[in-house]
Amino acid sequence: MSFDVARSVASFREACDAVRAAGDTLGLVPTMGALHAGHLALVAEARRHATKVAVTIFVNPTQFGPNEDLARYPRPLENDLALCREAGVSLVFVPEVAEMYPLGEQTRVHVASLTAGLCGPFRPGHFDGVATIVAKLFAVAGPSIAVFGRKDYQQLAVVRRMVKDLLLPITLVGHPTVRDADGLALSSRNAYLSPEERTRALAVPSALSAVVRAHARGERSVGVLRRCALSILEPEASRVDYLAVTDADELDALPDDGETGERALVALAAYVGTTRLIDNVVLGEDPAPRPEAS
Ligand code: PAJ
Repeated sequence: MSFDVARSVASFREACDAVRAAGDTLGLVPTMGALHAGHLALVAEARRHATKVAVTIFVNPTQFGPNEDLARYPRPLENDLALCREAGVSLVFVPEVAEMYPLGEQTRVHVASLTAGLCGPFRPGHFDGVATIVAKLFAVAGPSIAVFGRKDYQQLAVVRRMVKDLLLPITLVGHPTVRDADGLALSSRNAYLSPEERTRALAVPSALSAVVRAHARGERSVGVLRRCALSILEPEASRVDYLAVTDADELDALPDDGETGERALVALAAYVGTTRLIDNVVLGEDPAPRPEAS
């Protein structure tokens, strides 16, 4: 099976053209590298929808705020390439910042109301950076399908909306969150956690699990569900940016005195030490993240 690493836009575009010319379909998995089993599950999903899969590895500077972790974000490229090869990826694109953002660049893709809540206010410009780089990657690769993780639920919603609004001929596939056995969602940022913080971080899947179980028992009050989750999260978290119950499609927050109905999103962002963790569940759809009795 052939395996190519492209480092320029021209060579990646050419390789993607060659895939289509050979009669194959192309699936794309955009990443920032430091690949883990969550990313590899997206690759496996892409292989179910397309005959060739391309992975992009690019730590996109425009989606990081000035005080965020751009400089220290892990970049284990050789290991990432080995994982891609083992996972049956055909093409990897590792572009340079200077080529993805040409000198004098001034264009951003902005998705409006979906970015107004949840992580939006805490990370100004973040989703513009995401939508812009994903649009560029789609424009270079021209995939017929692309896979994104539901771990980043708001990001998936933003990219879905962008694809619809820009009339892009790409089928988006969302993949469930991949977790460690104890329930913690896999993330490249988990590498920042000390062993003690890793234990405290389990409050995140514990809080979400408590809400899933309460909802399954029939609890529908937004306020009750939020307070139940916060009572588990707050003692362990260094700071909670938000813990919101929203409509699962438009991401509009539901008020504390409202009801969830059968399906709703519970999403949170919290710091453990200096590491910002995000996680979510869709009530009525997702299982409890944390195994029972733990
Ligand atoms: P990154 O954080 O590397 O994630 C790449 C893809 O993997 C995203 O679609 C993300 O949702 C998915 N992913 C990460 N952890 C996951 C998990 N535990 N289970 C399932 N999927 C998981 O998200 C980005 O990069 C960037 O914002 C990007 C889209 C590449 C644009 O720069």
